Amino acid sequence: MLARVWSSSIVGIDAVKVGVEVDVSGGLPGIVVLGLPDAAVQEAKERVKAALKNAGFAFPVKKIVINLTPADLRKEGACFDLPMSVGILAASEQVSAHLLGDYLFLGEISLDGGLRSVAGVLAIAATAQKMGITGLVVPCDNAQEAAIVEGLAVYAFKNLRQVTDFLNNPERYKPVQHVETLHTTCLHADLKDVKGQAHGRRALEIAAAGGHNLVFVGPPGSGKTMLARRLPGILPPLSFSEALEVTQIHSVAGLLKNRGSLVRHRPFRSPHHSASGPSLVGGGSFPRPGEISLAHRGILFMDELTEFKRDVLEFLRQPLEDGYVTISRTRQSVMFPSQFTLVASTNPCPCGYYGDTIQACTCSPRQREQYWAKLSGPLMDRIDLQVAVNRLKPEEITQQPTGESSAQVLERVQQGRDRAERRFQDELNLGCNAHMQTGHLQQWCKLDDASRNLLECAIKKLGLSARASDRILKVARTIADLAGDDDLKTHHVAEAIQYRTIDRMQ
Ligand SMILES: Nc1ncnc2c1ncn2[C@@H]1O[C@H](COP(=O)(O)OP(=O)(O)OP(=O)(O)O)[C@@H](O)[C@H]1O
Ligand SMILES: [Mg+2]
Repeated sequence: MLARVWSSSIVGIDAVKVGVEVDVSGGLPGIVVLGLPDAAVQEAKERVKAALKNAGFAFPVKKIVINLTPADLRKEGACFDLPMSVGILAASEQVSAHLLGDYLFLGEISLDGGLRSVAGVLAIAATAQKMGITGLVVPCDNAQEAAIVEGLAVYAFKNLRQVTDFLNNPERYKPVQHVETLHTTCLHADLKDVKGQAHGRRALEIAAAGGHNLVFVGPPGSGKTMLARRLPGILPPLSFSEALEVTQIHSVAGLLKNRGSLVRHRPFRSPHHSASGPSLVGGGSFPRPGEISLAHRGILFMDELTEFKRDVLEFLRQPLEDGYVTISRTRQSVMFPSQFTLVASTNPCPCGYYGDTIQACTCSPRQREQYWAKLSGPLMDRIDLQVAVNRLKPEEITQQPTGESSAQVLERVQQGRDRAERRFQDELNLGCNAHMQTGHLQQWCKLDDASRNLLECAIKKLGLSARASDRILKVARTIADLAGDDDLKTHHVAEAIQYRTIDRMQ
């Protein structure tokens, strides 16, 4: 007899409906799986066989053919264990098949018939809801994650026995209700602990308000890492749709800590400088999101930027510009969103003291040149705020910090962002000033004659590219937003230009 059960597979961060057709008929006993299964799906044969027996069902001593459709999509992971088991039971008439068309079944199965959670359930639930599917049957550990999506009946079970009881007697069961678990309050380090560094604090505020990329350059121990780690504390929380998007990416990557609740705070990812290209941008034979996608809508912090391998840094160029990354494989090409703010820190030279007021730099010009060569022109061109963080004065070090707290700065950042959002109300994909396109600049970053002359002068003197000039306008727009000004004024443009004047002394 033939049975068809529905399941789903993840492609990128989206889900695709997968049919699991099971035919149990006469012939030499055995089980074959067709339809581009990976090793984990192949192994499912043995798991399912043992699980059915141990859960007290009869494993048919017949020829079992399992076909996964669509045939051209590679299927991965253990989430097909449950649909395969249900299919075998339905095809051998051990369970009622009348509900099978209405639900997607997902779950890994253990040898005793228990159900184990799988990754990517939120993405699958969101896709199922868009497709108009009635509901989902999932392991208990995935229940709250699936129930985040409204308009979908989610049934969660501990083991295969319970699933078959549900299929035979659905009226006895109620769908899972979503219970929003308390958000884990993310305690960010506070800006009020930072002594001095007014210039660095200002740049941080601009980066937060406009989503601009930022690099801190300065001697050891001046507070670069300290400042950068305080950026999440001055960023507004994610909106509901952003939170859904971010949670979906983390769910696909199997990194959801609290399965019952959306990720509400902006991600802050800080990969080590030994990170490989694929771990940064995503990869694998079944492409998985990398650090830049896990930082989507948040921050990618690259401490000691010059320590990263040059070819790894080059990978960042396309995603920094486009806000997404495309990973191509022989059989598929997937797109991961990666709209992140890059925050980096580095010393000005190998010894760390170039430009320092007290300690002399021991590097030769050649060494400094080689050091900066690692950060290619195209990468630095994409970093809007290049900020020198100098060593603190002795009296600053010994006194208590006097700067504003993160909460006070966040208030201004929020006002600046609100102002930008009101301007972008008809532009669906615009989140903040850094994402404006050339057309938007003509509309919202008009310059008066004095500002235009100033910018022209800076382009000539600093040898700025057209991209750098556009980015200066975006930063100037954010500075004006923070000041509550509708029009760009000369001092906004002047401040924005100043973030391009860092002395690398090559
Ligand atoms: N501006 C500052 N205000 C208060 N404490 C500071 C400041 N700068 C540095 N410190 C103290 O020094 C420690 C080291 O600072 P931090 O790690 O930010 O330096 P850094 O500039 O990143 O140095 P490196 O170039 O070696 O990475 C901090 O944890 C903090 O205790
Ligand atoms: Mg540091």
